[in-house]
Amino acid sequence: MNHEQEIIKIFDTTLRDGEQSPGASMNTEEKIQIAMQLERLGVDIIEAGFAAASPGDFDAVSKIAARITHSTVCSLARALDSDIKAAGDAIAHARHKRIHTFIATSPIHMEYKLKMKPEEVIRRAVRAVEYAREFTDDVEFSCEDAGRSDIGFMKEIVDAVINAGATTINLPDTVGYRLPSEIGAMVREMSRFTEGRAIISVHNHNDLGLGVANSLEAVLNGARQVECTINGLGERAGNAALEEIVMTLKTRQDIFGAYKTNINTKEIYPASRLIANITGIEPQPNKAIVGKNAFAHESGIHQDGVLKHKETYEIISPADIGLDMEDTLVLGKHSGRAAFRDKLHKLGFEVNDDDLNNAFERFKEIADKKKEIYDDDVRALMTSQMTAVNKAFELVSLQLMDCSAGVPSAAVTIKHEDTVTTDAAIGDGTIDAVFKTIDRITGYQGKLLDYKVTSVSKGKDALANVTVKVMFNENEPAIIGHGLSLDTMMASARAYIGALNSYLSMEGMLKLRHTDSSETV
Ligand code: KIV
Ligand code: ZN
Repeated sequence: MNHEQEIIKIFDTTLRDGEQSPGASMNTEEKIQIAMQLERLGVDIIEAGFAAASPGDFDAVSKIAARITHSTVCSLARALDSDIKAAGDAIAHARHKRIHTFIATSPIHMEYKLKMKPEEVIRRAVRAVEYAREFTDDVEFSCEDAGRSDIGFMKEIVDAVINAGATTINLPDTVGYRLPSEIGAMVREMSRFTEGRAIISVHNHNDLGLGVANSLEAVLNGARQVECTINGLGERAGNAALEEIVMTLKTRQDIFGAYKTNINTKEIYPASRLIANITGIEPQPNKAIVGKNAFAHESGIHQDGVLKHKETYEIISPADIGLDMEDTLVLGKHSGRAAFRDKLHKLGFEVNDDDLNNAFERFKEIADKKKEIYDDDVRALMTSQMTAVNKAFELVSLQLMDCSAGVPSAAVTIKHEDTVTTDAAIGDGTIDAVFKTIDRITGYQGKLLDYKVTSVSKGKDALANVTVKVMFNENEPAIIGHGLSLDTMMASARAYIGALNSYLSMEGMLKLRHTDSSETV
C-alpha cells in the first residue's frame, strides 16, 4: 500500500439532494437513522438538509448536528442572510460544522432565474461567505450550474469567495450535461487557478448517466472532494452514486493508486438497504454494486467459472460491501433472544434493552408464520421499528369482508390515547375501504397520491413492505408512510396510519419549501 495516498473526501448529500428525489421525503427520526449509518460508513461530510426550507428541515438538521460526532454536519443555504442564519443556528451544536452556500453562475440561470447582473451575483456570493464565516470556519461555496458557466467568470467569483473565507469550492454539473473530458478540463483549470487555496469539489448529476464517470475524471484532475448519494438518489435522474465512486476508487488502484477514501466499504450494503427501506425506492435490480443482481451469476458458463475460480467473473467480493452471501439465512421460530441480539449486532444495529424486547416480540410474531427469516427481513423490521415516530394512532386489528359479492368493506380497530375505536366502511376496492375506515376513525381525510408494495427477501411467504404517499392538507407537502407485514392489507393499513402519525409529529413544521432562488437579502 502506498503511504502517500491522498484522501478524497466523500460528501454525502442523500439527506439533502437525495431527499429532493420525487417521493423520497423522510421524517426526522428516519433522517437521524440515516445520518448515523452514514457516520458508520465513514463519510467525511453529511449534508443533513436545507435548514431554511421549512421548520421540519431545520429541526432535522439540528437534531443530526447534536447526534453526530465524527463526520462534519453541513446545511445548505442560498446566498441569503436569512438562509445562512438558519443554517448556522441549525448546525450550532455539531462537533464539526459546515455551511454550504450557493448561487448560480451560468448565463442562463443569472438572466432568467436570478434576474441579476454578474457583478450582483459576485457581491451576493461574497456577502454570503463572509456571513457564513461568522458561524463556522468551514464554508463551502458552490457555483450552481458550473457545468454551463463561463470559466472566466467562475475564476472571478471563486477568487472573490476564497478571499472572503470559502474553504471548499464546489463545481456542480447541476443539469448533468457534461462529458468526463469536459469536467476533467474544468476541474484541472480551476485547480491550477486556485493553487491549493481551497479544496476543489464536484457534484455531478446523472441526466446523461455520466455522474460517476464525471466524478472519477474530476478526481484524476484535481478534485479532492466528491459529492454523491447512496443508491444515486437525487433530483431528476439523481446524483453520482457513492457506492460506485468508492468501489471504483478501491477496485481500480492501478489507476487511482494515489488516492483513497475514509469509507468503510463493508457498510455500503447496509446503508443501501436502510435507504431503500426508508424511502421505498429500490435500486434497479441491475444497479452496479447494490442492485439485487449485482452478484448473481445466471448463465451456466458464468456459474461454472465462478465455482472454479471466483475472480473469473467477479471483480468485487460481495463481502467487501458487507453483503455476506453465506450468512443470509438467519433465524427461525426457535431462535432465542441471544441469537437475535447477535444477529442485530452483526447487522450493525446497536439497541438498548427496550428496543431489543420490542424487536424480539415483532420477530417472534413474524417467525410464527414465516419459516425462514433472512437478513433483509431483520433489516426491514428494525428500520420500521427504529424510524417509527410517536404512535398517536395505533392499529389494533383489521378485518376484511368478502369482496367476492362485489362490495369491498373493512372493519378497523384503532387505539388513540386511551380510547379504542372500531368502525367499518365500504370502498371502491379493498384498499380504498381500509383507508376510508381509518379516515372515519381518526377524523383526518388523507388523499392517497401513491401506493407501492415491494417484497422483502424471498419466498412465497415474503414480508410485504408497503409505501404510501398521502396528502392530509392541500397546502402542505405529502407525507410518506411505511408498513411491514406478512399480509399486504395489514401492511397497507400500517403504512397509512404511519403516514398520519408522521404528519402529526411534524404538524406546524411542514410549510411548503422555498422555491424562489432570487429572493432578496
Ligand atoms: O445540483 C446542484 O447544483 C446543487 C447545488 C445546490 C450544489 O445541488
Ligand atoms: Zn444537486
